[in-house]
Amino acid sequence: MNTVIVGTQWGDEGKGKIIDILSQKVDYIVRYQGGNNAGHTVVVGKKEYIFHLIPSGILHPGKICCIGNGVVIDPEVLLHELADLRKNGVDFSKRFKISSLAHLIMPYHKNLDQLRETKRKNKIGTTGRGIGPCYADKINRCGIRMIDLLNPDIFREKLKDNLKEKNEIFRKVYQHPGFSFEKIYRQYLDYGNLFGAYISNTALLLNKAIENKKDILLEGAQGTFLDIDFGTYPFVTSSSATSGGACIGTGISPVKIDKVVGVCKAYTTRVGEGPFPTEFAREFGEFMRDKGNEFGATTGRPRRCGWFDAVMCQESVMLNGIAELAIMKIDVLDGLKKIKICTAYKYKGKIFKEFPHDFEVLSKAIPVYKEMAGWPHQDNKPSSFKELHPNARIYLAQLQSLLKAKITMVSVGQARKDTIMI
Ligand code: GDP
Ligand code: IMO
Ligand code: MG
Repeated sequence: MNTVIVGTQWGDEGKGKIIDILSQKVDYIVRYQGGNNAGHTVVVGKKEYIFHLIPSGILHPGKICCIGNGVVIDPEVLLHELADLRKNGVDFSKRFKISSLAHLIMPYHKNLDQLRETKRKNKIGTTGRGIGPCYADKINRCGIRMIDLLNPDIFREKLKDNLKEKNEIFRKVYQHPGFSFEKIYRQYLDYGNLFGAYISNTALLLNKAIENKKDILLEGAQGTFLDIDFGTYPFVTSSSATSGGACIGTGISPVKIDKVVGVCKAYTTRVGEGPFPTEFAREFGEFMRDKGNEFGATTGRPRRCGWFDAVMCQESVMLNGIAELAIMKIDVLDGLKKIKICTAYKYKGKIFKEFPHDFEVLSKAIPVYKEMAGWPHQDNKPSSFKELHPNARIYLAQLQSLLKAKITMVSVGQARKDTIMI
C-alpha cells in the first residue's frame, strides 16, 4: 500500500505526528517536496523532535527514510539534523537515502530570498531559507543537484556559471558584494564527501520496493493552499504541495498510489502573509494562538488563527483525492462556548460555495458560518471516539459530512498516545 500524506490547509496541520504514527506500519517513508521551510514535530515522551528535511518516520528502527528528488536540500541544515539524531542515539546509517537528483540550496539562494522580500511591495513572508530561488533555478535549468557534488569538474563548471550571473544581480540590483567561488566550492565538496554514502537513485530503490510489495508513506510538506498552482498565489511556496507532487517528487507513477490521507487542523492557521477569510479578530486570535501554542516550528513566528474553513478543505479533498482525514488538535477547541465552521463566502451580495480564484473575492469575502455548540474542558484525554464529548462528536460528524471524506484519526494532544483511531 502506497499512501500520500498531505496537508489540507496552510501547513502545520500536524503532518509530522501522523507520519510518525503511520510509519510503524510501512517499510519506507519519503519526503517529496519543499525543503527546510518545513518543520514537522514528533513528540516522543518528553522529547520533541522537529524535522525539517529528514522524513518524520526516522525514529522507527528499521524503516528506510528517503529524501526524494522533489525536495530542495540545504546541506548545512541536513548536517545539523543528522548530528542531532546521532546525539539522540538514533541509528540511521544504513536506512537513510538522498536522491541524487535533489536540488541544492546554495548560500546565494538564501540571500536572494531575503533580499527579494525586502524589495517586494507585497511581501510573501517567506521563511527566508532560499526555497523560492532554489526552485526557480531548477526550473531555469541552472540548478545544482546532489549528484553534482560527487563530480568536482561538473560542479566547478555549474557553480562558476551560476556565480557569474548571480554576482552581477547581487551587485547591480541589491548592492550586495556577491559570493566568492572558492569558499562555496570547497564547502560543498566537503558536503559531497559527508553525504556520498547516502546519495543514490531513490526512484529506482522505491520502484523496486513496490515490486517487492513493500509499503511506502509519502510525506508532504506545507499544505494545499501553499501549493504553487492551487494555493493562494502569490502567497504560496514554490513547490507542488498537493498529492500530485508526490509522484513528481519521488519517481513513483500515479498508478502506483493507493490512497491519499489529508491532515486537517480542527481550526485554521497560517504563517506569513496572504488572504485568510476566517481569521479571528486580534484579541480572540491571540487567545487561541496561546491555547494551541501556534508558533512556527521552523521560524518561531506567531501563526495567524481562524475558524475551520470547509470551503477550503472541500477544495483540498477534491484536488488531492483525499479518501481519509486525520483531524488534529481538537483538544484546542475544548472550553469554547461556540464553535464556527465556514460553509461559504459572501462578496458583493454573491455567495461562493466553491473556493474562488479571484484574489479580490478571496481577500475581501465575508465567511458564512454554521454555529455549533462547544464543549467543556476535558480533564482526561479521551482515548476512544466514544469518550469524546458528545458535542465534539457532533462537530466531527459535521466536518465529515461537509468534506465527504472519512475521518479515520482524531488527535487530542501532541503525544503518540493522544490519537484516536476510528
Ligand atoms: P506539521 O508541519 O504539519 O508537521 O505540523 P507542526 O509540527 O508544524 O505543527 C503542529 C503542532 O501541533 C506541533 O507542535 C505538534 O506537536 C502539535 N500537535 C499535533 N497534534 C496535536 C494535537 O492533537 N493537539 C495538540 N494540542 N497539539 C498537537
Ligand atoms: P510545514 O511542512 C507553514 C509558508 C511561509 C510563507 C510561504 C512561502 O511545516 O507545514 P517559503 O519559505 O516556502 O518560500 O515561504 O509559505 N510556509 C509554511 N507555512 N508550514 C510550512 O511547512 C511552511 N513552509 C512554508 O510562511 O508564508
Ligand atoms: Mg510545520
